[in-house]
Amino acid sequence: MSAGAEVVVVEGVRRSFGALVPVLQDVSFRLEPGELVLLRGPSGAGKSTVLNLVAGLDRPDGGEVLVDGVRVAGLGHPARFRREVVGFVFQLHHLLAELTAEENVEVPLIPAHLRRSQRRARARAALAEVGLGDRATHRPVELSGGERQLTAVARAIVGRPRLLLADEPTGSLDAIAGERVLGLIGRLSRDQGMTVLLVSHDPRAAGRVDRVLELRDGRIVAPEPR
Ligand SMILES: Nc1ncnc2c1ncn2[C@@H]1O[C@H](COP(=O)(O)OP(=O)(O)OP(=O)(O)O)[C@@H](O)[C@H]1O
Ligand SMILES: [Mg+2]
Repeated sequence: MSAGAEVVVVEGVRRSFGALVPVLQDVSFRLEPGELVLLRGPSGAGKSTVLNLVAGLDRPDGGEVLVDGVRVAGLGHPARFRREVVGFVFQLHHLLAELTAEENVEVPLIPAHLRRSQRRARARAALAEVGLGDRATHRPVELSGGERQLTAVARAIVGRPRLLLADEPTGSLDAIAGERVLGLIGRLSRDQGMTVLLVSHDPRAAGRVDRVLELRDGRIVAPEPR
């Protein structure tokens, strides 16, 4: 396959979990640089599975997943790729319980050659961007569900990754915080050329993206008008 200018190429991907659960049957799509694309579909359709494959957290049973022209499943340094190229907002947040919000946000910056004070300043700036500047020193148990989600968004964008994979980043947010996160993601894509694959059931999301991919019965189908 030729490596074009696409940031993400997913071609003919299959993934099953045991013989009885073929989740992805033949999934193909491409993301151009700076595109903001919504991946939609019913619960259990395989949206999180797709994000995991693009992030190199899982391997396809068949087909290809390329990021910046490189096959993700064969990477020699997957941890570095995930740190330097990809920002991931996990559906279940995955914050480290022992660390404060700002320390959690600093985690992706630790391998970069930054002074501790610089790291802290960037983490605080990212928390301020999501509207959480006043909770920087709280631990996850001291944050609300929505605040944990905002912390996870700040952690995913703090290193200004080339590719942002965001799994339901507004799922536990009220209308105002949800708007702020969708607005921030839109600006990162528009102004900084960040490529974004967004999974969301949020009805506001569809109107704010360049394109919708609809995942159904293991394939990308034409999006249903809403
Ligand atoms: N590690 C795993 N082992 C077994 N089955 C799995 C595994 N991961 C996912 N599945 C199954 O694959 C299917 C798709 O899961 P996935 O989490 O990708 O769905 P989703 O589209 O993200 O759903 P939701 O909207 O509820 O988050 C589900 O039926 C799930 O049970
Ligand atoms: Mg999911």
